[in-house]
Amino acid sequence: MITGNGITKTFRQRGSVLAGREVHALRGVDFAIAKGGSASFIGESGCGKTTLGRIIAGLETYDAGEISIGGTPMSGLKPKQRQPHFRKIQMIHQDPYSALNPTRTVHQTLQAPLALRAKQTGRSRQWMDERAAEVLSLVGLDPDTVLSRYPHQLSGGMRQRVVIARALTVDPEMLVADEAVSMIDVSLRLGILALLKDLRERLGVSVLFITHDVATARYIGGDSELYVIYRGQVVERGPVDTVIADPVHPYTQSLLSAIPVLHGLELPGEQPVVPLASLDESQPDTGCLFTRRCPFHTDRCAGERPLLRVTEDVPQEHACFYPERRSVVARPMSEV
Ligand SMILES: Nc1ncnc2c1ncn2[C@@H]1O[C@H](COP(=O)(O)OP(=O)(O)O)[C@@H](O)[C@H]1O
Ligand code: SF4
Ligand SMILES: [Mg+2]
Repeated sequence: MITGNGITKTFRQRGSVLAGREVHALRGVDFAIAKGGSASFIGESGCGKTTLGRIIAGLETYDAGEISIGGTPMSGLKPKQRQPHFRKIQMIHQDPYSALNPTRTVHQTLQAPLALRAKQTGRSRQWMDERAAEVLSLVGLDPDTVLSRYPHQLSGGMRQRVVIARALTVDPEMLVADEAVSMIDVSLRLGILALLKDLRERLGVSVLFITHDVATARYIGGDSELYVIYRGQVVERGPVDTVIADPVHPYTQSLLSAIPVLHGLELPGEQPVVPLASLDESQPDTGCLFTRRCPFHTDRCAGERPLLRVTEDVPQEHACFYPERRSVVARPMSEV
C-alpha cells in the first residue's frame, strides 16, 4: 500500500518577469493505492499530475504531508534509507524517445539495472541474460529480434515497451505511467494500455495512470480509482466507472462533456455541455478554486474552500458545495 496524506508542493518561479511568483502545484493531496491496485490521476495540463507522480516515485521533494510505502513513513528516513522503498516504484515517462539512451542497444539498456540487481543478490551473468529475455517477453517483444537493436531501429510503441521492460528488471511493486501513450501513434496506444493492465493482472504490480485524456481513463475503467485534479487539489474521487457515469463536480463534468461523440454510434449525455469560462489567473485564490470558471457558483463559493468529502446520496468524494449528478458523457447506442 502506498499512501499520501496532505501532500503539498509550492514552486517558486525563477526568471526576471515571474521571479518570486509562487505556483501552488499541490494543495494537500490525499491518496491511497493498494498493493496490486490501480488508480488514475486526471486533469488539464499544469494541474500538478506529473509533480505528484514524481513525488510518489521519490524523484521530487514535497513541502508538507507524508508519503508512506508499505506502512513506512518516508519523511523520517535518510535519503539512503528511502532509496530501497522508492526503487519499488518505477516511473514510465511520456516520451519513449528521450527515455532511452540512443547509443545503447536494448541489451545494454537492460544490463545496467540487472547488473546492479545481480550484484545485490549474488546472481550470475547467465541469470542477467535470462532475466533480460524474460522481461522483454513480458512486454510482448521477441528478445532475439530486439536485444541487439538501437532505439532508432524501433517504433515508438516498441520503445515504450522497452522502457516498461527496463522498469520491470527491478521487480517493482508499482508502475507510474505518466501520459505513457500520449506521444505514441494513436494506433499503438491501446496496445500499451492493454499491456499495463495485463502486467497488473499477471504480476500483481499496481499501476498509476496519469493522463489528461478522458478516453484513456475510460479505457482503464474497472475497479481503478479515479482522482480528478484541478489546480493542485483533488476535486472528485471514486471508482472510474462511477465517476464517469455520474460526475458530481462541475469541473469533472466539463472535462467529461468534452469527450468527442462518434455521431451515429454514441448519443450525447442528457446535459451534454458544461461550459468552461476563461480563467483570470491574476485574481487571488479565495474560496473554491473553480469559482471563476464555474457556471453554478454562488457567493459562498467565492469565500469558502470546499474540501473533499462524501455527502448524502453522492457515492464518490467531491469538493463542491452543490454536488449534482449530471449525465454528461456520451453513451453507446447499444446501451440505449
Ligand atoms: N520544477 C519546476 N519549477 C517551477 N514550476 C514547476 C516545476 N515543475 C512544475 N511546475 C509548475 O507546477 C505546476 C504543475 O505542473 P505539472 O505537475 O507538470 O502539471 P501536469 O503534469 O498536470 O501538467 C505547473 O504550473 C508547472 O508550471
Ligand atoms: S463549490 Fe461552487 S464554484 Fe466550486 S465547483 Fe461547486 S458550485 Fe462551482
Ligand atoms: Mg505532466
